[in-house]
Amino acid sequence: MSIPSSSWPAESGARAKRLADALSPTSLSLLQVVADEAARRGLPLYLVGGFVRDLLLGRPATDFDLVVEGDATALARALVARHGGDTILHNRFGTAQWLLPDTISPTGHSSLDLISARSETYKHPSALPTVRPGSLADDLRRRDFTVNTLALRLDGEYFGELRDDLGGLDDLQRGLVRVLHQRSFEDDPTRLFRLVRYEKRYDFEVAPETLALIPESLPWIKKLSAERLRHELDLILEEDNAAAMLKRLAELKILAEAHPALAVNLSIRRRVEKAMQVLPGERRAFGWMLWLMHLSRPALKEIESRLHFHANLRDALFAASRLYSSRDSFIGKKPGQYVAVLDDFPLDSVRAVYLAMLRGEARRTLHNYLETWRHVKPKTTGHTLKKLGLEPGPRYQRILHLLRDAWLDGEVTSEEEEKRLLEKLV
Ligand code: CTP
Repeated sequence: MSIPSSSWPAESGARAKRLADALSPTSLSLLQVVADEAARRGLPLYLVGGFVRDLLLGRPATDFDLVVEGDATALARALVARHGGDTILHNRFGTAQWLLPDTISPTGHSSLDLISARSETYKHPSALPTVRPGSLADDLRRRDFTVNTLALRLDGEYFGELRDDLGGLDDLQRGLVRVLHQRSFEDDPTRLFRLVRYEKRYDFEVAPETLALIPESLPWIKKLSAERLRHELDLILEEDNAAAMLKRLAELKILAEAHPALAVNLSIRRRVEKAMQVLPGERRAFGWMLWLMHLSRPALKEIESRLHFHANLRDALFAASRLYSSRDSFIGKKPGQYVAVLDDFPLDSVRAVYLAMLRGEARRTLHNYLETWRHVKPKTTGHTLKKLGLEPGPRYQRILHLLRDAWLDGEVTSEEEEKRLLEKLV
């Protein structure tokens, strides 16, 4: 369990130093600019949520959420008047985006979100909430877990002051994820997924009262839209500990509630762990493929009708499932035969199925395909065929394929041999 190295210092110099150490110089000076303007206008300004949580846990924190107690759009306009740039205002939510001028951020952030503190009420469970301007206390009370309700004040003499209305620091130090009230999951069932993400990311425990709320909260998951549900699973698949998170979601019956075909067992978890071997930006897509490739097309279609995957991912997923189920059909075939088949699959689906396989001839086949065979091309090109006086047409493709297969199958090993074969073919 990761416990913060110390609590937040009370003395202002020490607080400022802790913040300065955690932020890049560009982020720090940007926050300073906003804090100075907020102080001038008498607007309390806070860093809130995940940034503060991770700062106190001594983990690198990059994204920050800034909440203004008052009108964030007025603060954004004042910043533009003094420093330049532009604003995009979302008046309904009192949110403003400051598009930064080059003088403030020559290389760093391109924009900064400023959010007005708000209170939220839910008209009916799982719907988007009704939002009204509120105090910081209101804003903290609408949040998911106590560990996400910590705030650091930034304006003027308050710089670095910790605000802990709801026992967040205590829970952080004890390593507990706890909802703020009994109807939290009903208000927002995505919190069931977020809970598991934090529990396994930080190796925390779920507070017993919170755990006890889960069984009765499960039916609310059905109310989530495809986009919101898929987004939560996307976020989980991007985490280092995704496999453990899926296991926990299954244990708590959250996964089956999301869709009965979304199961995990030991071998699926081992497969999902392989997603750590791809680039961070590819993890989500590979996570999905590695998780679901063993499913049949009808089962995938059912999941697709609940989650509405984007077209690229859907195609890659169906292809991975087709390839995974036919993976043994490559055994005993000549390279020329399977290269033509594999070329019809999206490359990432082939990579995912290769990652999923532990050993054996089929795995070696995919390895050879990915590393070597898919790059093999004959020296002859369409241009060469034209020079030989051949009428352009489907024959070109056939000849080029035959030449490539001859290289792949070792029937041709030099340019000379390729030429001779070409003469025969023509
Ligand atoms: N939040 C919430 N309920 C949600 C989503 C978000 O209360 N369903 C609040 C939490 O206070 C959270 C903040 O909004 O800290 C920002 O949300 P988000 O960016 O999703 O989370 P982070 O705290 O930044 O955490 P993560 O590291 O998971 O991105």
